Amino acid sequence: MGIQSWQLKVKKEATPDLDGLKKAVASCTLCGLDKTRTQTVFGVGNPNADLMIIGEAPGFYEDQQGEPFVGRAGQLLTAMLQSIGFDRNKVYIANILKCRPPNNRDPDTQEVELCTPFLKKQIALIQPKFLLALGRIAGHFLLDTDQPLARMRGKIHQYQNIPLLITYHPAYLLRNPADKAKAYEDLLSARQNLS
Ligand code: URA
Repeated sequence: MGIQSWQLKVKKEATPDLDGLKKAVASCTLCGLDKTRTQTVFGVGNPNADLMIIGEAPGFYEDQQGEPFVGRAGQLLTAMLQSIGFDRNKVYIANILKCRPPNNRDPDTQEVELCTPFLKKQIALIQPKFLLALGRIAGHFLLDTDQPLARMRGKIHQYQNIPLLITYHPAYLLRNPADKAKAYEDLLSARQNLS
């Protein structure tokens, strides 16, 4: 058995564990957001993806549909991925929080602390070759810093030995379209690091 087929097998076997993790998330009541959620939003996409994208938290539409990035920001994310030749279904998309904070407020420190063990496990199961973090909140958690986004973007970091790039959140880009060009540069850099 060659190393490549062995790696493939190890990755494929991650799927049942991912299902188990999804069930654990669905019954989680740790931080209290279960009281206001419609449902949990675990993650979506290819469990063997090379590229894993990490957003902040579900919004209104994600909470309704149980899938990350399906609202306006999600449509922009899908278009951003297409612009570098990536199909949304071939990557894996998850969030820092698995439940919607009321009125889409920022996740608080305790929510991030209680929820991110799920994300850590998700990353360990998927074993992506590259992580793309969207926005300040995801960047802060993955880099364990409180730097402004401008300081975090534009370079390749590492998270648990996985190359990590932090770029603008699509919701920010909807409000600040002038920064789309810089986000596109970041995406090109991600694609280059994946090839
Ligand atoms: N914004 C996020 O960060 N995640 C989603 O799933 C939707 C909007």
